[in-house]
This record gives sequence, C-alpha cells and structure tokens, in this order.
Amino acid sequence: MKTIICKDYDEMSKKAAEIITKQVKEKPDSVLGLATGSTPIGLYKCLIKEHKENGLDFSKVKTVNLDEYVGLGEKDDQSYIYFMRDNLFNHINIKKENTHVPESNKEDLKLDTEKYNKLLDDIGTRDIQVLGIGVNGHIAFNEPDDKLNLRTSIVDLTEETIEVNSRFFEKKEDVPTKAISMGLEDIFDAKCIILLANGKSKKEAIDKILNGKFVDTNFPASLLHLHPNVVLIVDEEAYNG
Ligand code: GLP
Repeated sequence: MKTIICKDYDEMSKKAAEIITKQVKEKPDSVLGLATGSTPIGLYKCLIKEHKENGLDFSKVKTVNLDEYVGLGEKDDQSYIYFMRDNLFNHINIKKENTHVPESNKEDLKLDTEKYNKLLDDIGTRDIQVLGIGVNGHIAFNEPDDKLNLRTSIVDLTEETIEVNSRFFEKKEDVPTKAISMGLEDIFDAKCIILLANGKSKKEAIDKILNGKFVDTNFPASLLHLHPNVVLIVDEEAYNG
C-alpha cells in the first residue's frame, strides 16, 4: 500500500483529484468507482473546478457507486444518489445514463442486488475506485463481521455506524438500518483503489491499517492489504491524531 501524507483536508482532496484528472485525461472513457460520505466532498469540488476552469471532459466517463441506503428515494436528500447528483454529477458534463448508484426500493431487495451485480459485470474492471473508511474500519457498507460478502448484498448497519451517520439526519431513528453495498470482490475489481481518510476520528482505523500487519474481516479495511494497487491518501490528523 502506497501512503501519501498530506498537511490537511484540502491537500488530501487535491492529491486525489490530481490522480483522477490524469486518469480521465489519459483515458476519456474511464470507469470510476465513487464513494459518498463527508470525506470525498473536497475531491468532488476539485473535479468540478477542473471541469469548469480547465475543461476536464466527463462526457465519456462512466461511474459506479459503492452503496446506498435501503428505503430512501432519490428525492431524499440523505440518499446517496441525491448526494452524488448534488456534489458532483449536476456540476460536470457526465451523462446521467453513465452514472450508477445501487437502487433499493424495498420491494424486491434480492432483485436489486442481482441487477447491480449484473451492471458491475457488464461495466467491467474500474480504472480507479475511490473509498472512504468508517471509524470501525468498514468500507462501503461492509461492516465488521466474521464473514464478508463478495458481491453486492443487502447489509444490516451496525449500531456504531447508525450512530456515526445520524449526524446527517434530523434524528437517529431516521437513519436506515439496512443498505445495499458492493461486496469485497466488487470493490477489489479496480486497477487502483484510492483510500481517503482525514481527521482525528479516523486515526485509530488508519493506525490499524498501517501498523496492524493483519487482515481480519472484523476490520474490513485491513483486507485492502491484499489488493496490489492501493493508494492511501491521509491528512496529518488521521495519520498522527
Ligand atoms: C459511510 C459510507 C462509506 C464511507 C463512510 C465514511 O457509512 N457508506 O462509504 O466511507 O461512511 O464516511 P465519512 O466520509 O463521512 O467519514
């Protein structure tokens, strides 16, 4: 795992944006795996700036997202589809039909996972997958457990994740308890994974990755040691605490 330590959140975001900008310039029809959460917002801002000021062209880019809450519609401002449109897609020249966020409308969850797995199979290996990390080491919504899913599945969120994510909702009871999430095999199907982390709250998780010297499904991010091309971009707070 290659590690890049940045002085702050802005520098972390810029570094990640540089890698993605280079990728899209070199291969205009790149397939990008994208993430939600507060961490990649700065990266998306930098990409929007690149598009607006330097004409970075997304017209042939395809994207797939990691996960989505079960039961929130696209109009719900806490849904990840809403987040992606609001923070990136609506501000660049990407074609709507080339953007993909898993759907889960509660009616037939199994079908939702099958559809997304087919989409991932059809779209093929991503050039870059952006990842954040939960304080408990979750990646996408793969929560710590004795077993982890390989493919897109419906998952139960842990109490800790519900608590942490409740900061975005009016009250804790509003946080969905289930999500649809890419599995580990899906996340790994990328030529390069960019793992982003910033702030003190991520220090413990980053320390486990960098100094833990183990892989453990009860700390899902540790499995990233098994991927041949992971770039960890952290700010000093996440690195030093
Ligand atoms: C969420 C998402 C993850 C994200 C993580 C960290 O639960 N499912 O994909 O990486 O939490 O979020 P944040 O970036 O807000 O710390």
